[in-house]
Amino acid sequence: MRSDANIAGPMTDPVPGPRTESTGEDVSRETPPPMDDTPIGRAAQLAVEALGRAGEGLPRPEQTRVIVVANQKGGVGKTTTTVNLAASLALHGGRVLVIDLDPQGNASTALGIDHHAEVPSIYDVLVESKPLAEVVQPVPDVEGLFCAPATIDLAGAEIELVSLVARESRLQRAIQAYEQPLDYVLIDCPPSLGLLTVNALVAGQEVLIPIQCEYYALEGLGQLLRNVDLVRGHLNPTLHVSTILLTMYDGRTRLASQVADEVRTHFGDEVLKTSIPRSVRISEAPSYGQTVLTYDPGSSGALSYLEAAREIALKGVGVSYDPTHAHFGAQSNPSMAEGIQ
Ligand SMILES: Nc1ncnc2c1ncn2[C@@H]1O[C@H](COP(=O)(O)OP(=O)(O)OP(=O)(O)O)[C@@H](O)[C@H]1O
Ligand SMILES: [Mg+2]
Repeated sequence: MRSDANIAGPMTDPVPGPRTESTGEDVSRETPPPMDDTPIGRAAQLAVEALGRAGEGLPRPEQTRVIVVANQKGGVGKTTTTVNLAASLALHGGRVLVIDLDPQGNASTALGIDHHAEVPSIYDVLVESKPLAEVVQPVPDVEGLFCAPATIDLAGAEIELVSLVARESRLQRAIQAYEQPLDYVLIDCPPSLGLLTVNALVAGQEVLIPIQCEYYALEGLGQLLRNVDLVRGHLNPTLHVSTILLTMYDGRTRLASQVADEVRTHFGDEVLKTSIPRSVRISEAPSYGQTVLTYDPGSSGALSYLEAAREIALKGVGVSYDPTHAHFGAQSNPSMAEGIQ
């Protein structure tokens, strides 16, 4: 794993082009931005903008940033966020590894990575002590993006890990022993707080919590935050919640903006200014083994993940982010979401 402070610089490696062009109207349910009136014109304008942004390069982190994407609530956008942020960071020129730590293997699927039972996987790394380098595969279509897949074996790992030496820090050791240079490692956690998630929390410095903009959005988060505190106190002093990302934001509903407001009140600066709109393109992409960045690079979903990636990269080097896409931001409204429990 890279830890050389001297190689910081713009992420200006060649940027691969997208495989698919935008072909029609994006069916995101967000309020459309004030652009060209026609659907095709708007899509074309967004595509050009997305590609321009992807190519502009971003500052490299001084050390590999290991980001744990966690929320024990199911279906809040952990996997979607992991793969699309990872692709965005790679398109911005970074070298990025996605570690699929969910036995469902959804991140592997979304990245077009083979993960049937015989494929060397993160299970072999955690339980059989196989080197991480032996299971990592390059992601087709996105240069600089790699994936350590999860197979169904991983479902048994929660139990099998219990009796192993250093059961909480096996992923941390594997990442530390990985010698390829990386700018980011993104770990997609399962919707639970078991040993797999604990391994991720021990391995990472940062926790990214995706929060779905719906009622009860904050329910259960207290438990995750307490686990982060416990791991920081006992096993990993560098761990902190660095990023909250609002997902499936529907600008047409009052509820979404109320939840967003509540989350911002609780977490302040950790909440990204960019939120991810609810977008059919985002939900369609995995069934084609693609991220939304290659599936429909001009869609609002692709743009919002590129923006979120930019914000994360800039925050990481202490540069304040200047939002240029006001339509991705959440609006303030009186609160009615549940508080943290
Ligand atoms: N911004 C979005 N717009 C529309 N659909 C979305 C969006 N983000 C995620 N989805 C869809 O919501 C569902 C849940 O998303 P995802 O699988 O990323 O959540 P998760 O937190 O990883 O779930 P799990 O807890 O099961 O691992 C998926 O069908 C996904 O395609
Ligand atoms: Mg998931």
